[in-house]
Amino acid sequence: MRVLVVGSGGREHALCWAISASPLVSKLYCAPGNTGIAKEAECIDISAENVAGLVQFAKEKAIEFVVIGPEVALVSGLVDQLEDLGIKAFGPTRNASILEGSKGFMKDFCRRHKIPSAAYGRFTEINPAKAFIDKNRIPIVIKADGLAAGKGVIIAETVEQAYKAVEDMMDGEVFGKAGSEVVIEEFLTGEEVSFFALCDGKNALPLVSAQDHKKVGDGDTGSNTGGMGAYSPALIVTPDMVETIMDTIIKPTMNGMNKEEKPYKGILYAGLMVDQGKPKLLEYNVRFGDPECQALMMRLKSDLLPALIAACDGMLNNFDLRWYEEPALVVVMAAKGYPGTYKKGTEIKGLKNLEELHDVKVFHAGTSAGPQGEILATGGRVLGITAIGKYISGAQIKAYQAIDVIDWPNGFCRRDIGWRAIQKKTIN
Ligand code: AMP
Ligand code: GLY
Repeated sequence: MRVLVVGSGGREHALCWAISASPLVSKLYCAPGNTGIAKEAECIDISAENVAGLVQFAKEKAIEFVVIGPEVALVSGLVDQLEDLGIKAFGPTRNASILEGSKGFMKDFCRRHKIPSAAYGRFTEINPAKAFIDKNRIPIVIKADGLAAGKGVIIAETVEQAYKAVEDMMDGEVFGKAGSEVVIEEFLTGEEVSFFALCDGKNALPLVSAQDHKKVGDGDTGSNTGGMGAYSPALIVTPDMVETIMDTIIKPTMNGMNKEEKPYKGILYAGLMVDQGKPKLLEYNVRFGDPECQALMMRLKSDLLPALIAACDGMLNNFDLRWYEEPALVVVMAAKGYPGTYKKGTEIKGLKNLEELHDVKVFHAGTSAGPQGEILATGGRVLGITAIGKYISGAQIKAYQAIDVIDWPNGFCRRDIGWRAIQKKTIN
């Protein structure tokens, strides 16, 4: 089978790595890919936003299956266009991608289908938004309605900050059109988990859980990022909790999307806040999490490709995926300055020393090759050092040992990924 993966991050490297191991694959392409991905797939210089270019490429190369990583391509209807040509594509259609594409839609949807989520209001004008802030408790959460590359959420600790966030989004257009509407919601407390289900329009198969680390600094301090590290499984997602999440959140979503004639196929990633055993939905994403996907792929024993195809074909009933019991942990190395401004083009050395390890894998997120084949950092989040070990603490030690072999003076990472699980010591 001729397969194309769309995207260029650590998530897509992990997907390419898993898919390239499938005996079903005869040729694997990735657009646009990166230097690490080039070891698993032939990289093609077409960006994930270039829907027309991707469709044209898939047609020319007689691609039989397309796996789409990033949300932008999904929200802009890449799946629909490929399907129109008879090319099978993994991911939700444009209509179904609205679960991530509009936070306002997602909140109203939760209300319509009684899915537990934070109390909220939707606003297209500043004064009613400010009046809503006045009536509610601080901290309060202000969200741009549309896609904002993971940056459109402000947790305001004071009324002034909340007002400013609303003004910046609506008047200052700091998130462009994405912020012309805002959702203002109740601040939830508890423990955050990432829950993933593979969906085929009718059935949802829960995958293993993960916990992300969104803040840039050790001890969960500093700015929010796309994710600085993750581990799988999340200890609070017990088998009972999986059942609760499936019954109260995932299945009602599948049924609701069907009723509203937007059947959902692909990965449904629920960002959840769990408080005293009760999960509430913070947000939906219509794709794998990054870096959670890297930890998940490290734990996957089964061939990924048949599962993705079964999801497209509506054949997930009775489908099973097998996972390694051992936990996996990924530490992100980012360019100094991230998530603010950072230098591009600095050289990373030492990666060759890690190539032979079988329980550590370095997934590339923002790299390119220099003129002499050297590896250059070209993004904010650059590498995801992923290890599998007997306990979360064991995986953590292996990941940091590998990081210490990497020579990249311009990079940094958090030194405490996994702290919450390790502190709990339940299985450590
Ligand atoms: P989102 O992009 O909606 O997941 O928001 C990014 C991050 O903001 C989440 O991962 C949470 O850490 C935080 N967040 C979002 N909504 C809320 C909320 N209602 N209460 C508390 N934290 C939130
Ligand atoms: N790690 C968070 C995300 O992928 O949105």
